[in-house]
Amino acid sequence: MNLDKSLLKKNPSCLPAGTGSPAGLLGMTFGYHIVTFGCQMNKNDSERVEAILRPMGMQSVETPEEADVILINSCSIRASAEDRVFGMTRNFQALKKKKPHLIVAVTGCMPGRDKDGKLENTIQGVDLFFPTKDMVMLPKWLSELNPNLRPIDLDADYLSVSPIHHVKAQAFVTIQTGCNHFCTYCVVPFARGLEGNRSLKSILDEVRDLADHGCLEITLLGQIVNHYIAPDKEYFSPQNPYHKNEFAKLLWEINQIEGIERVHFTAPHPIYMDDEMIDALTLPTQLNFIHLPVQSGNSAMLEKMNRRHTREQYLETIQKIRAKRPGIAIATDIIVGFCGETEEQFHDTVSLYQHCDFDISYTAKYSQRSGTLAAKMFVDDVSVEEKKRRWFLLQHIMEDSTKRKNQAYIGKEVSVLVDTYKNGICQGNSSEMKRVMFDGGEELFGTIVSVKIEKAEMWILVGNMVYC
Ligand code: SAH
Ligand code: SF4
Ligand code: F3S
Repeated sequence: MNLDKSLLKKNPSCLPAGTGSPAGLLGMTFGYHIVTFGCQMNKNDSERVEAILRPMGMQSVETPEEADVILINSCSIRASAEDRVFGMTRNFQALKKKKPHLIVAVTGCMPGRDKDGKLENTIQGVDLFFPTKDMVMLPKWLSELNPNLRPIDLDADYLSVSPIHHVKAQAFVTIQTGCNHFCTYCVVPFARGLEGNRSLKSILDEVRDLADHGCLEITLLGQIVNHYIAPDKEYFSPQNPYHKNEFAKLLWEINQIEGIERVHFTAPHPIYMDDEMIDALTLPTQLNFIHLPVQSGNSAMLEKMNRRHTREQYLETIQKIRAKRPGIAIATDIIVGFCGETEEQFHDTVSLYQHCDFDISYTAKYSQRSGTLAAKMFVDDVSVEEKKRRWFLLQHIMEDSTKRKNQAYIGKEVSVLVDTYKNGICQGNSSEMKRVMFDGGEELFGTIVSVKIEKAEMWILVGNMVYC
């Protein structure tokens, strides 16, 4: 899409009433409001957008009503995710009537996958509709729409924009964009393009800089994060003990950076969980947690999904992980009701769930996405009711096992990075990614503390801080 041509056509009255001069350039500030859907990668991209908008003379506002620019960072993973964006932009139209200079922008995976312009033609009341990588054009486009906004110069690569981190102690670090895997159900390769790996040097520079600024925990992001291939291998240290798996090598390098105490990553793919990768889970900075999506417990379904591994291979990987790191918490992703999934095949997923004794599952009902291989090759023939039934069944199994597993924490000490403080109560995640709550002061915010667990509820462990 040629945005330059369409911009002012779509929003002819985009200047605040009565402003013809560059008042913003003289110090006026404008409000932006960002709504982020989807995964952590989108959250990290929204942090980059903020880093672009602030030097343009904008500041974050709490509500869309207060905003001069609303930016929706969209997700396309399921139809429901896109429907929410359609609904939201419809609602913002009323706001635009009251405030004609309001700019509404949509970025993320919807524009990313919209190669034929169908989504853009359907969505209403939107001034800018652009894929994530084009966020570097925002200064130009926004200052064309509102000359009061200060244009700034940016590098062409959006990953070179340093994200704004809201909690100093925690940061996302995107190490890879796109995906080459083409799981048949998945829209991501279409929305985000083919896999691209960030340079090792820029990743390590970013992590060092974060550590220098007080960051304790980083989450490395990539669609198949453990398939990371460094474009600049010369930056690996000669003493790095790993040789084959470059993601394991990266984890080792990050483990050496002083100040970084906790390292987490998402999402790894089971087929790249080789021995080096599993060994790297024992590095001292690694969280006692891994999220390893399985999608289905039936080998025929896995093949149809193009996951490139069998049920048995996945089970073997889990066994190896537990042998190397006993006590590790394991999360997964599951899709129920994929094309042609029979009751028996679904029960293979149930039995795999029980066998792996997962700590948590993010279970989704299959949603057909236009353009994907599954939409072209298979029939979405499991009824909505049946998908719901399978979803609830797995959800109940998960809740029962979560309750049981949480009970085991009672009387134990866990280390918690405090990310929330309110009215004398602190909250944060343990190394097992369990949510923990305890009484504590504001000075604990952004620190890692030990908490002895007294009570276990479904989604939260409650305890008392242990003073050394
Ligand atoms: N790259 C990650 C997953 C990214 S998408 C991986 O390979 O595991 C996040 C999750 O969304 C997937 O793990 C899958 O469970 C779910 N998902 C993806 N496409 C879907 C679809 N069409 N319908 C329902 N769930 C889907
Ligand atoms: Fe989608 Fe599969 Fe790539 Fe994950 S690995 S992003 S599920 S295509
Ligand atoms: Fe959604 Fe795009 Fe992430 S489709 S899950 S926001 S990569």
